[in-house]
Amino acid sequence: RVLVLDFGSQYAQLIARRVRENNVYCEIVRHDITVEQIAHHAPRGLILSGGPSSVYEPGAPRCDARLFNMGIPVLGICYGMQLACDTLGGKVDSAPAREYGRSQCIVTEHADLFAGVPDKIDVWMSHGDQVSRVSDDFVPLAKTGTCPIAAVKHKTLPVYAMQFHPEVTHTPLGGTILHNFLTAICGCSGTWRLGDFAKEAILKMRAQIGDARVICGLSGGVDSAVTAALLYRAIGPKLSCILVDNGLLRKDEQAGVIAEFTNHFKTDLHVVEGEKRFLEALAGVTEPQAKRKKIGYEFIECFKDEAKKIEDARFLAQGTLYPDVIESGAAPDGPAATIKLHHNVGGLPAELGFELVEPLRDLFKDEVRKLGLELGLPEDLVWRHPFPGPGLAVRCLGEVTKPRLDVLREADAIMIAEIKAAGLYRSTSQAFAVLLPVQSVGVMGDARTYENVVALRCVNTDDFMTADWSHLPYDVLARISTRIINEVKGVNRVCYDISSKPPATIEWE
Ligand code: XMP
Repeated sequence: RVLVLDFGSQYAQLIARRVRENNVYCEIVRHDITVEQIAHHAPRGLILSGGPSSVYEPGAPRCDARLFNMGIPVLGICYGMQLACDTLGGKVDSAPAREYGRSQCIVTEHADLFAGVPDKIDVWMSHGDQVSRVSDDFVPLAKTGTCPIAAVKHKTLPVYAMQFHPEVTHTPLGGTILHNFLTAICGCSGTWRLGDFAKEAILKMRAQIGDARVICGLSGGVDSAVTAALLYRAIGPKLSCILVDNGLLRKDEQAGVIAEFTNHFKTDLHVVEGEKRFLEALAGVTEPQAKRKKIGYEFIECFKDEAKKIEDARFLAQGTLYPDVIESGAAPDGPAATIKLHHNVGGLPAELGFELVEPLRDLFKDEVRKLGLELGLPEDLVWRHPFPGPGLAVRCLGEVTKPRLDVLREADAIMIAEIKAAGLYRSTSQAFAVLLPVQSVGVMGDARTYENVVALRCVNTDDFMTADWSHLPYDVLARISTRIINEVKGVNRVCYDISSKPPATIEWE
C-alpha cells in the first residue's frame, strides 16, 4: 500500500484515486502521522500532497522529518516538494511569477521517475511558492520557464519531488510518472483490486459495529445500494434498511427498489409510505429552497419515527461519497479542514444520536460503480443516473401536486426509456424531464389546447461540478417529443435544454 499525507490539498483524494487506478491500495492520512504510525501501516511508498500553506510561515503543516530516512520511497507533490526540499537542506521562496495552469516542462533526466517521458511535457502548475535552491544532495530532473527546479531526486535517499501536479488530467503524462513511482521506485506489484477494498471495508465495519444493529437508508441509487451490500456482507441480519417513499420518486421506483432489495438481501426492510405527508408539507410551496427544506425536514421526521421502531440500532450507514463532501482545502481531519456538505437533502443530522458508518467516503462515483459490480449488484442498478434527494419536487417547477407529479413521472419514464433504447443511457451522465410552470397554446386535431410544457435535460459530466448538455441525436429527441406529446395527457410542447453548467446548474431548481 501507499500512504498519501494530506497537507490540505484539494487533490489528496485525486492522488489516492490515481494510485488505486494502478491497482495499488492507497490511504490518506494526516500530515503529522509519526514514523512509528507509518511503520505500522508498512507502506511501500509515501506521497506528500500539495497544500495551501507556505513552508516558511510559522505554523505551516510539516511532516515527521524522520520519515525521509525510513528507506521508504517518498514523492513530494507541490507543497510536498517544497516541504521535502526545505527539510533536506533547500530553500523555498515565493515564486517570481505565480503559476496557475498549463505550463511546459523540460525533462532533463529520464531515469526512473521520468522513464518513457519525452523531453518536453505539458504539466499543470498551481503554486505561489517554489523551491529556489536545493542542497548538493539533490539532482534536478526537470524545469519550466518560471520554475528552474520543477522536479528533483535525492542522491542517496529514495526521495523524489515535483512542483507540478501529476494527478490531474491536465498533466497528460502524469499517469506515467505516478506509475513509474509506484512500480519502478516503490516496487508495487499492482495486484490490488476494488474487491480488496470491499474486504478491508467489511473488516473495518465489523470492528466498528461489533454486534450492534445498523440502519441504512435506501434511495434506489447506487451509493446507498453499495453501502447496504457492503454492510450486508459485514453484519448480515443485523442490518435494517429504511426506504422512505416521499411520493417524489420516479415511475415504479418503489417497486423496483423493493424487488432489487429482496433479490439481494435477506434482511429487515422498512418501507415508509410518506407520500401524503410530503405532499401536504409541499402544498402551496413554489420556492426551490423552501421545497428542499420542507422535504429535508419531513424526511428526517419519517426516518426518525421508523428508526425508533428498530430496537438496539446504534449505527446509521450513509452512502456518502468523496465528491459529496465539497471541501475548502482539506480532507476531514486535515490541517485546513472546513467542510461544507453538498446541498444534500436526504442527509440526516447528527442529533439523531447514531454513530455514522460511511464505507464509501473515500471513493469516487465510478469506483463505487465498479465496487457494486464486484459485489454482484445488477448492472441496471449500478449504472443508474444520480437522482437528487428532493426527487421530482425540484423538477416539478411551481407547485408540487400529485397530478402534476404524475404528468412529470410519465414524461420522465418515456425520456429514460427512449434514451436506453437508443443505447445512450451509459454514455450520458444524467437525463430527466422537468415540468415547467407555464402553459402554452397548441393545436391537437382541430382543437386549440392550452397545456403544459416539458423540458428535457440531458448532460455529460465527469464530476457533476461542471457539465455540458448532451448532443443527443435529433431522431432520439424527436421520438421522445412525439411520444410525450401523444402519450402524456396534459402536455403539448417539449423543449430541450441546451445550457451548460456553469452558468446553469444540472437541475432546474
Ligand atoms: P446541480 O443542479 O447543483 O446538481 O448542478 C449537481 C448534482 O447534484 C444533484 N443534486 C442534488 N442531490 N440533493 C441531492 O441529493 C439535492 O438537493 C440536490 N440538488 C442537486 C443533481 O441531481 C446533480 O446530479
